[in-house]
Amino acid sequence: MINADIKIEKTTQSRVDNYDVNNVPFGKCFSDHMFIAEYANGKWEKSYITPYRDFPMSYAMSALHYGQAIFEGMKAYKSDSGEVSVFRPLDNFNRLNISAIRMAMPEVPEEIFMGGLMELLKLDSAWVPSSETGSLYIRPFLIATDEAIGVKPSETYKFIIITCPAGKYYSEPIKVLIETTYIRAVEGGVGFVKAAGNYGRSMYPTRLAQQKGYQQVIWTDGKTHSYLEESGTMNLIFVIGDTVVTPALSDTILAGITRSSVLALAREWGMKVEERKVSITEIVEAHKNGTLKEVFGTGTAATIAQIIGIGYEDDYYSLPPVEERTFSTKIDETLRGIRKGKVADNMGWMHKVQ
Ligand SMILES: Cc1ncc(COP(=O)(O)O)c(C=O)c1O
Repeated sequence: MINADIKIEKTTQSRVDNYDVNNVPFGKCFSDHMFIAEYANGKWEKSYITPYRDFPMSYAMSALHYGQAIFEGMKAYKSDSGEVSVFRPLDNFNRLNISAIRMAMPEVPEEIFMGGLMELLKLDSAWVPSSETGSLYIRPFLIATDEAIGVKPSETYKFIIITCPAGKYYSEPIKVLIETTYIRAVEGGVGFVKAAGNYGRSMYPTRLAQQKGYQQVIWTDGKTHSYLEESGTMNLIFVIGDTVVTPALSDTILAGITRSSVLALAREWGMKVEERKVSITEIVEAHKNGTLKEVFGTGTAATIAQIIGIGYEDDYYSLPPVEERTFSTKIDETLRGIRKGKVADNMGWMHKVQ
């Protein structure tokens, strides 16, 4: 077991009984405790758990001005017997450090990330929803904390983990608009990292798409706007004929952990999987000749978000009804089963909180 020297200050008054954790608005109600590790003088100096609280900060704090701020998102689940497990946390740990390197931030050691996470979940296990579709959303993040104006890497950082129950998650099928004016990421940029700024820049184009009746945009490549990349905070997967097709990872696409899980299951089930460039022309063609069977987004929030229509320039392409989508429905059920301990975890994805 990984051990970090973590000082624990427990809350004297748990708030958990104030809520029905199976039924809370997402992202607004935080669990009793939080984990914090502090970096200064070239090393990780201390780590501790405290009751969830605000922290005093300088208005000159460097994360606020120069964007050294990265984060992760993952979930813990409770089985019927009450056991709590996290889905693929080591993948989030690795991705956080990929982001840290690109943003000139210090990497977080595994014993701090995993040690802090496990201690926190032990303390706050009552906050993990037990409902069929509920989970505890976990938000690890790393921010630059120097009180200094001036563009250079901060010398001090905080790595923090907070959690909040995600009660019943209903994901309605969505309509998406292929975006050909604005871009999310360019080659050589930071599209492959979970940097806060990536999300800030996506909000204006998304708002414009929403004004046209779409829920999300599909980002296209920054050079030609002819290849599909990802949609909002989800990777994109298509079933064309009997093949599972998804844009290949590159430095403009976030390597989603749900994406990787879907592809692993598809391969285990003997399906043909192609990770390659996917052009708009190919998708329009597949729609025309009737081979475009399924289109969906994958991500920690919804797992699978069904896409029922795609807008492109002045055209709208209506996609097959969700009831006919055998692959994504089976994926959704299988992942839910693995997470709730009802389907064998052959891939070793669930990390138990002991
Ligand atoms: C831009 C972006 N793409 C894809 C994803 C899906 O990644 P994951 O499946 O690891 O949640 C996310 C969410 O983290 C995201 O923010």
